[in-house]
Formats: sequence, C-alpha cells, structure tokens
Amino acid sequence: MDADTQYIEFVEKIKNLLPSVYPDSPPLAHIHSFGCQQNESDSEKIKGLLADMGYGFTDDTNNAELIIYNTCAVRENAELKVFGNIGELKHLKELNPKLVIGICGCMAQQEHIVEKIRKTYKQVDMVWGTFALFSMPKLLHEVLTERKRVFEISESDKTIHENISTVRNGAFKASVPIMYGCNNFCSYCIVPYVRGRERSRSSEAIIDEIKGLVKDGYREIMLLGQNVNSYGKDLDEHINFSGLLKKIDNIDGNFRVRFMSSHPKDATFELVDTIIESKKICKHFHLPIQSGSDRILSQMNRNYTSEDYLKIIEHARNKLPDFSFSTDIIVGFPNENEEDFQKTMDIIRKVKYDNIYSFIYSKRTGTKAALIEDKTPQEEKTKHMRTLLSVQREIATERYKRFIGRTLRVLVDGEGKKGAGHLSGKSDEFIIVEFNGEKKLIGKFVEVEITAAHNWALEGNIIN
Ligand code: 5AD
Ligand code: SF4
Repeated sequence: MDADTQYIEFVEKIKNLLPSVYPDSPPLAHIHSFGCQQNESDSEKIKGLLADMGYGFTDDTNNAELIIYNTCAVRENAELKVFGNIGELKHLKELNPKLVIGICGCMAQQEHIVEKIRKTYKQVDMVWGTFALFSMPKLLHEVLTERKRVFEISESDKTIHENISTVRNGAFKASVPIMYGCNNFCSYCIVPYVRGRERSRSSEAIIDEIKGLVKDGYREIMLLGQNVNSYGKDLDEHINFSGLLKKIDNIDGNFRVRFMSSHPKDATFELVDTIIESKKICKHFHLPIQSGSDRILSQMNRNYTSEDYLKIIEHARNKLPDFSFSTDIIVGFPNENEEDFQKTMDIIRKVKYDNIYSFIYSKRTGTKAALIEDKTPQEEKTKHMRTLLSVQREIATERYKRFIGRTLRVLVDGEGKKGAGHLSGKSDEFIIVEFNGEKKLIGKFVEVEITAAHNWALEGNIIN
C-alpha cells in the first residue's frame, strides 16, 4: 500500500478496534469548523473518514468521545475563539479521561501555535495541519492504542485524494473544492503559509463529483478555491477557470453554480462573458478588492490597481446592468491614512456592491505586513469601519430596489425570522429574499415577486 492510500489501512484498523474500546455503543464524534468554506469542506471529509471507522456524530460536546476543532488562522479573533473553546474542554476531559481531543486546520499548521498547544493545553491529544488531513486515521489509531499525544504538521502530503467518503453538512447545497492552496502571498495573509502552493483537481474529477451531487438532488454547487481564477495553471490538462465553468454549465440537471474566491488580477473579460452567457452560473461575482488605494494595494502585493479592477466591473455591467458584485475589504492596513480610506469609499460608491465583507486588519505572525510598524491608531480604524458599514447599508438598500416589481428565482434555505409560515432563501444574485410559504419548499427553487427592499434583504410573494 503506498502513502496515498495508507489512511485506508488505519480506517480499517480503527473500525476493528472501536468495539473493544467502546463496548456499550458506537462512539460519537463532535466536529466543529471555525473557518471558511474550505475548512467546512475539509470537515466533511474528516466526517467521511470517521463514519467509515464507525463513529456516529453529535452536536453536543458532552456526549462526544472524540472532539475535533478544525481551526482558522486568517484573523486573530478566530484564533482567540479557538483557544477559549479548547480551554473549556479541560473539564470535559476530567469528567471523561477517555475523551479524545483533536485540533486541525490552519492554526495547526503553524509551529508557534502547535508549541502553545503542546505546552499549555495538555488536554489536547492530537494535532494535525492542513497537509496531514489524511494522516488523521493513523494519529487517531496511535492515540487509541497507545494513549499518547501526537503531533503532525509536516508539509509532506501534497496529494489530492479523490473518491473519498464525505459526510455532507447540507442536503441541497454542496461545496466542491476545485483547487487547494495559494501562490499569491498578499502581504497581510497567512493562507499561503498554512495551505501551501496551488494544486488544481482534474476537471474530470470535479465534473464527476458534481454529476453525482446533482443526481443526489443537490441544487446549489459552490466551487471552492483560494483563488479559483488561477484554476488549471498547474495542470497538464489545457484548461482555465472559464473552460471549467463551461464544462460544468453543460451538465444536465436543475441546479445552480457559485464560486469563491477570486483574485482580481486573474479575473478576465473572458470569464465575465462565460458567466453571463451560461445557463447555470449565478450572475454574481465575489471579487475581493481589499482596498481602493493603489498605494495600499501595492503594499498588499495585490498586483492590480483600482482602475484595472473597475474595468472588470464596467465590462460586466455594460453587458448585464444587474450583475451583482460583492467584495472583501480590509480596513486599517498598516499606515492606511484618511486619503487611502476615502479612496476605498470612492470605489464602494462607484461599484455599488450588493454585499461587502469588511474586516479590520489583523497582524499575522510570519507575513510581510507583520513587519511594518503601524502608526494608524486603532480608534481610527474602528471609526473607518463604522463609516464603511453605514454607507454600504444605504448603498445596498438603494441598489436592491432595482428588483422591486420583478420576479427572482430563489433557493429556499429555511424558515425566516418571523417563524412558522415564513421562509428565507437566496436569489441567484446571492441576495437574501424573505417571503411567506410552507416549510416543504425548503431546498427547492421558487419564483418570488419582489415587493420591498430592506438593507439586509428583499421581501416578496411566491408566484406559482
Ligand atoms: N486581516 C484582516 N483581514 C484579512 N483577510 C485575510 N487576511 C487578513 C488579515 N490579516 C481577509 C481578506 C480576505 C478574507 C478572506 O479575509 O479580506 O479576502
Ligand atoms: Fe490570501 Fe491573497 Fe491568497 Fe486570498 S489571494 S488566500 S488574500 S494570499
């Protein structure tokens, strides 16, 4: 058996072992993701491995024999939350010494974090980084048989494992990673250090997975990658992201496709045209600009200017005025001044995003930006953040009004805020839509005539 498939051997070993370790009933595992959709997707694979071993699952840590935290390192807040949660597990371990606690994901790929866990959080039994996802069965086997603490953060496993069991978190929306890693080294970002270089999956494996999901009734496929726009560059296969989208668009079935995230430097007119001309790709583009100031963009190592960025928006809107854009903004990059911030506000006013995900800059050890001496006071960053949020709220409400009187296709997510008889879903533009309807419509597409626009959502009535 080669290294690529060695995990299967340990899945089998644990399957045979579990009845003797837990003679009363099959053990339950609790898996919690703290991070992005890639982390969620990794957790679905971890669950797949555990299900193959014979574990059941629980949302309640009190009932679990195995607790796994899949962690995020993008901002400090996420890390603090994880440490808080690990701290709280200490008393559970005291109540049940057999409890196995595992930490994985992006935090676990950083040496200083692993050292902190090793020294301070003795209740943790196993730690494995993003490259060692498929070492988990071997590590768990060691913990169960030898009751020792194990740590695996080597960067040895760059293999893309295909055809593995996956326990999906959703019944009608599924995430499909198309590539892993990132080559861009934006100066603020830890991702390239914890997820390595770009590795694309073959288009055949992606198409097969999507066909299977569509056959199983999934209605929304989210293509994942740190920078999907560079899909295929590392493959022998002659294909780019636009080509992949065309292939996916040709798959038969009643489903829609979204993707994230995209780097503006690799966003092309060809890609925009492919989206507009497609039948199944949502007419929504999440295109993180991060800052509207060319000075800051250059320090961020983003490799585009605000003018380059606006050209993509203009091209899309000339062809399809409704085209929906959303973005990520970092407020308070080291030494961002008033003029820089106003340039970001100018872009926001020009583009009129339907949605903005904004973050206050968080210093990440090991990145280039962490070396810059930052003179911008924290209060100024907080003030800028408040301004951005309030201006964006007005812009979104105004822009959402374009849909009043029109009918949008909505995938129903679940019950709405008002409870029974009220539903909430997302339109193809990725805007929240709320309306009255029966619970049995959850997971289905409905047509909704829009009657009002609020700053967080649209409101309407189902037509059928
Ligand atoms: N501080 C704040 N926000 C960050 N992001 C990435 N790194 C940082 C950081 N150090 C944001 C970017 C990215 C999103 C996923 O997280 O806006 O697009
Ligand atoms: Fe981080 Fe930039 Fe890569 Fe996105 S493109 S993951 S922001 S380095």
